Amino acid sequence: MASSSTLYIVSILFLQLVLVFGNVTRSSTLTTTNNNNNPWLSQSGEFAFGFQQLKTTTNLFMLAIWYNKIPEKTIVWSAKDINNNNLVQASTGSQIQLTSGGLTLTTSQGESIWTAQPNEAVSYGNMLDSGNFVLVNKNSTIVWESFMFPTDTLLPNQSLELNGTLTSRLSETNYTSGRFQLYFNDDDNNHVMLSPLAWPTQLRYKFYYRIDVPNSSASSSLVFDESGEIYVETNNNGTRVKPEGTQWKNLVLDPKLYYYRVTLDYHGVFTQYSHPRDTKAKQGWTIVRYVPDNICIAIFNEMGSGTCGYNSYCSMENQRPTCKCPYGYSLIDSSNEFGGCQLNFTFACGTDNGEGLNVKLEDLYEFTVLKDVDWPLSDYEKMQPYGQQDCQQSCLHDCMCAVAIFNNKTCWKKRLPLSNGRAQSGGQLVLVKTRVSPLSSLGLGPSCSSDLNKDDGVKPILRGRIDVLVENDHEALEDIGRLEKWIKIAIWCIQEHPEMRPTMRMVMQMLEGVVQVPNPPSPFSFSSIA
Ligand SMILES: *[C@@H]1O[C@H](CO)[C@@H](O)[C@H](O)[C@H]1NC(C)=O
Ligand SMILES: *[C@@H]1O[C@H](CO)[C@@H](O)[C@H](O)[C@H]1NC(C)=O
Ligand SMILES: *[C@@H]1O[C@H](CO)[C@@H](O)[C@H](O)[C@H]1NC(C)=O
Ligand SMILES: *[C@@H]1O[C@H](CO)[C@@H](O)[C@H](O)[C@H]1NC(C)=O
Ligand SMILES: *[C@@H]1O[C@H](CO)[C@@H](O)[C@H](O)[C@H]1NC(C)=O
Ligand SMILES: *[C@@H]1O[C@H](CO)[C@@H](O)[C@H](O)[C@H]1NC(C)=O
Ligand SMILES: *[C@@H]1O[C@H](CO)[C@@H](O)[C@H](O)[C@H]1NC(C)=O
Ligand SMILES: *[C@@H]1O[C@H](CO)[C@@H](O)[C@H](O)[C@H]1NC(C)=O
Ligand SMILES: *[C@@H]1O[C@H](CO)[C@@H](O)[C@H](O)[C@H]1NC(C)=O
Repeated sequence: MASSSTLYIVSILFLQLVLVFGNVTRSSTLTTTNNNNNPWLSQSGEFAFGFQQLKTTTNLFMLAIWYNKIPEKTIVWSAKDINNNNLVQASTGSQIQLTSGGLTLTTSQGESIWTAQPNEAVSYGNMLDSGNFVLVNKNSTIVWESFMFPTDTLLPNQSLELNGTLTSRLSETNYTSGRFQLYFNDDDNNHVMLSPLAWPTQLRYKFYYRIDVPNSSASSSLVFDESGEIYVETNNNGTRVKPEGTQWKNLVLDPKLYYYRVTLDYHGVFTQYSHPRDTKAKQGWTIVRYVPDNICIAIFNEMGSGTCGYNSYCSMENQRPTCKCPYGYSLIDSSNEFGGCQLNFTFACGTDNGEGLNVKLEDLYEFTVLKDVDWPLSDYEKMQPYGQQDCQQSCLHDCMCAVAIFNNKTCWKKRLPLSNGRAQSGGQLVLVKTRVSPLSSLGLGPSCSSDLNKDDGVKPILRGRIDVLVENDHEALEDIGRLEKWIKIAIWCIQEHPEMRPTMRMVMQMLEGVVQVPNPPSPFSFSSIA
């Protein structure tokens, strides 16, 4: 009894020492179950090291460093796997422990999933007020530091060495390594470059931005200095030069009043932000500078989708890229604007276009008009001179054509997937081919089929025996021809493939007798028909 309460008091004292001094002694641990109130804090309490729950999945945590005094608790570092590829996701009951060997993250089953093990014995750890978590040997020399293994963010006093990279996270809420990387290329001058990645691999596509320094000096590191300015260190001798370009010129910065960070954002923009230190000031991160100016047009690669996903288009709004789906397309992942769009329906090629129904393509597809948008790398045909009507007709009759662009008597046909979409002036007309709304989207599909019973209805109809169905219905028998027509329309309505279903307009025409109702195929798999 007495010994356990003594232990309790000692732990409290110990905890307070940790909180006060930022020092983390050996055999200290944090677990995902009880750490919420006691991450390892820096001396000022401005930065914290510990577990952060993933917003999307409550039983998963990441080992991270974050700003601890601001409401947003913005994460500046997180533990990645050995290839710096994937976020280390710790489940409930996982534990991080500091020993003389370093840091070890183990699951509740005792499996080690991440380590920071320097070559020398560790005396203690320290969460520094710069946001750097360090492991220190008995000579007070830093033997491991989080600053050497940045994820997507650099803090003042942190520099990126020649072998270092910043990799964006996947989306606003998903910290897995994403689609963009900052790195030093390996040509003679070691330029700092930004490239899209062939996600999920680390293959780099052609760069979309390059940090140039005067006189083609060779870079040796990218420095985010204490004042919040960004330099390139050249010649391996500590000479710091400002990169070329107006975005990099010196700004009026005040690190005493503001936090600064530079982050390679999940949409590929390399952005410097500021946040007031004063908790009474208006909270939130403000953009200080960013490159490239317009990422929507800066990325221009044969491969890859651009900053937005496939089949969407990008425009800069309030200094940020935003992505939109064309009419008839919707987000693949409704929670990720940058994840690309998909067609609501599929284009049917050849005789699938309403087989047996004598459907005109005009009744299946329509065009919606967008202005000043382009997918410059999705062309497969260019026709000239050509009229706008011919352009639209050509796209309509071509099942590979998803979009036609018409401008100056020229018609470009584009195929899926549409990539590198961007808003762009130029006066061109963008004709986006979409499926005419099928019955199902008007809510009429179910009402067509609600009275039909698979076994008792469809089989006899398919055998041409309407009388089996209606033997108890005298009124129906009086007009068996009309009933047959209605049932055939109903079966067209419940075709498994939406593109087989007639449009509302066609149903009206069939009901009015303008169009003959052809015999429908079975809406169900053939095996279910005797
Ligand atoms: C952390 O602990 C070490 C070793 O005990 C000590 O030398 C150092 O001054 C401490 N640092 C702080 C910030 O308290
Ligand atoms: C930056 O580094 C210098 C020198 O190492 C140090 O004196 C200074 O306190 C650091 N600044 C911050 C904000 O950590
Ligand atoms: C630590 O300090 C001792 C004594 O000052 C020295 O002999 C030793 O080489 C140092 N070790 C390291 C790893 O720097
Ligand atoms: C980069 O190189 C430095 C110096 O050669 C080294 O200390 C560091 O561990 C390397 N970082 C990575 C991430 O490989
Ligand atoms: C993040 O995205 C990856 C890849 O799509 C997925 O496997 C992972 O489950 C996501 N993580 C979270 C926490 O949603
Ligand atoms: C670049 O070269 C020019 C002329 O050779 C020189 O005047 C200038 O100082 C150099 N700039 C730097 C940053 O080295
Ligand atoms: C670094 O090297 C360059 C070129 O060799 C030289 O001009 C410059 O003076 C050197 N700077 C320092 C601080 O040594
Ligand atoms: C496409 O599908 C989405 C989601 O299902 C829907 O919100 C949207 O209205 C549809 N658009 C068209 C043109 O059918
Ligand atoms: C229109 O196309 C013609 C023929 O290719 C070309 O000579 C002319 O410059 C174009 N005009 C504009 C405004 O693009």
